[in-house]
Formats: sequence, C-alpha cells, structure tokens
Amino acid sequence: MTTQSPMRMFLRTFNDERGSLTALEPRDGVLDFEIRRIYYLHGITEGQTRGAHAHRELEQLIIAVHGRFELLLDNGTHQELFILDRPDEGLRIPRLHWRELRSFSEGAVALVLASQAYDESDYIRDYNEFLEVTSA
Ligand code: TYD
Repeated sequence: MTTQSPMRMFLRTFNDERGSLTALEPRDGVLDFEIRRIYYLHGITEGQTRGAHAHRELEQLIIAVHGRFELLLDNGTHQELFILDRPDEGLRIPRLHWRELRSFSEGAVALVLASQAYDESDYIRDYNEFLEVTSA
C-alpha cells in the first residue's frame, strides 16, 4: 500500500530583537490539508509515551512549540525516529503511520494540527491490526 512519507516542514518565522513569531496559513502552501482540529499535549509526566496508534485517514502536522520529544514513525515496513525540538518546524505525518511520542522534556508541548475532527473509528490502536491494514 502506498502512502506519503513523513516530512519536516519549515514554518514562516519572523525573528527580530524581540524574539520570534511563527505563522501558518493556507496561502503559505505548507500544508496540503485543511486544518479541522487543533489539540496539544502538555504536562506530560516523566517517562510517559503518548500516541501508540495509527490513523486510517487523518493527517497531521506536529510541532514542538516548547521543549523536546521523540517521535517514532512506522509505516508497517520502516521505522524512523524524529527529534522535535524547534517551534519553527513541523513534522507532517501522513495517514497509516504508527506513531509513538516519548522522552518528553519537562514542560514540553506538542501542538497537533489535524485534517479531521476527532473520530475514534479512524484510530487503529492494535499494532497487529495496523500491520494487516498496511500489508493489504
Ligand atoms: P489518546 O488517544 O489516549 O491520546 P494520545 O494518543 O495522545 O495518547 O486521547 C486521550 C483522550 O482524549 C481520549 O479520551 C480521547 C480524547 N480526545 C478527544 O476527545 N479529542 C481529541 O481530539 C483527541 C486527540 C483525544
């Protein structure tokens, strides 16, 4: 089964002596999906892993707006580990990628821009089912 690849995206950022401002809007052409939901992970306690699921259709851009964490992506045949620690960079996650977020630094915040509203039926939470779906 063919899916897109994960991709790091640089976000338009204005830096001056006061600090930085990062902006994202449709005309930038950074995202090839419409944002229909925003959520963020914060207050993650030490040693916790988040995610551990895949999505059938959902696409996402994940940004470490504060701190650092690791994001393991698995498309059913290959795994890739990304370190996210830059508020001016997002990681574009295509559909059908198993993801695990871990090793959060204290106070880290993971902002997620998503292509669809929350829908539990879009989740694949069983890794063996994920492998079946991606090998079909
Ligand atoms: P969960 O899927 O366990 O989060 P993660 O994948 O980051 O570990 O979601 C935690 C709870 O939040 C769960 O009860 C579902 C709920 N939730 C929403 O209501 N809306 C959302 O957009 C998301 C992502 C989760």
